[in-house]
Amino acid sequence: MRIVSGIQPTGNLHLGNYLGAIRNWVRMQDEFSAQGGQCLYFLADLHAISMPHVPTELGANTREMVAALVACGIDPERSILFNQTQVPAHAELQWLLSGTARMGWLNRMTQWKDKAGKNREGASVALFTYPVLQAADVLLYQATHVPVGEDQKQHLELARDIAQKFNNDFATEEAPVFTLPEPIIPPEAARIMSLRDGSAKMSKSDPSDMSRINLTDDADTLMSKVKKAKTDPEPLPAEAAGLSGRPEAANLVGIYAAMAGQSVAQVLAEFGGKGFGAFKPALGELLVESLAPINTRFLALREDRTALDTILRQGAERARAVAGPTLDRTYSALGLIRS
Ligand code: TRP
Repeated sequence: MRIVSGIQPTGNLHLGNYLGAIRNWVRMQDEFSAQGGQCLYFLADLHAISMPHVPTELGANTREMVAALVACGIDPERSILFNQTQVPAHAELQWLLSGTARMGWLNRMTQWKDKAGKNREGASVALFTYPVLQAADVLLYQATHVPVGEDQKQHLELARDIAQKFNNDFATEEAPVFTLPEPIIPPEAARIMSLRDGSAKMSKSDPSDMSRINLTDDADTLMSKVKKAKTDPEPLPAEAAGLSGRPEAANLVGIYAAMAGQSVAQVLAEFGGKGFGAFKPALGELLVESLAPINTRFLALREDRTALDTILRQGAERARAVAGPTLDRTYSALGLIRS
């Protein structure tokens, strides 16, 4: 089993990022590397240039994200952790696959349609071919499984279509060049909402810092953010159905459940009938207990540029070794002479 997944480097990491992709990656690493599987996790910094960006911020965000991933439990020994740019085979394979991907397939991608909006003529070519790079990301390593959010499922299907067509056109059934990867969509990725507005996603770009829980927040800040979180005057219901129409209450209960590894029903079995005066301190303590060790590691590693660059360099070296044979076979299947 080979697991491959990527994440775009963004700054200001918060609880939503942690409970979204990162925690799931850590779980898979712990589960699969014990069974002899291999996990490759990378920073999709090449994908980040498909939208307008600030070069100095991209570099800083890439290092910051590495620090966060390691602080959250990605072990650069057991997993291969790297950034795309340091493994040129990603960009090379993207070009090689561009001969196989069809305009019509890319035109149907919902992320392209959403991000380009009405201004397709002004969108970058990279935004359009983004899914081909994503296909290269996973096909390069013969990934068998790719953990992604629901929104990336279509891109994974495209990667399978590209792999299939390439194998049909340029390889034999006995010796296919690419493995068709399976998506792994986490069952109920907790949707973490703003602490100030239960109908808006927790976001790094919300102007109010009180709306989110950052991986850099210390214990006092965490406690005060939870205590000041928006709620309603009613006590918590005994059953999940009682949370409908109460987005703020539902969000806090959801965060508790996700952090404690419990179902919403289990949380309500304990706290149903109790008010927020009892629930908020319990939630605050749970957050402090689970995030404090991450916070300490993150703040220290973030400052250690040498350590971060070493992690990236070593990760890239290992990734290049895994990627090499597939890249060679792709060039040669296409009749391109390299030596
Ligand atoms: N496009 C993905 C996202 O925005 C990130 C990504 C890039 C990715 N390459 C990948 C995810 C390869 C899985 C596999 O979330």
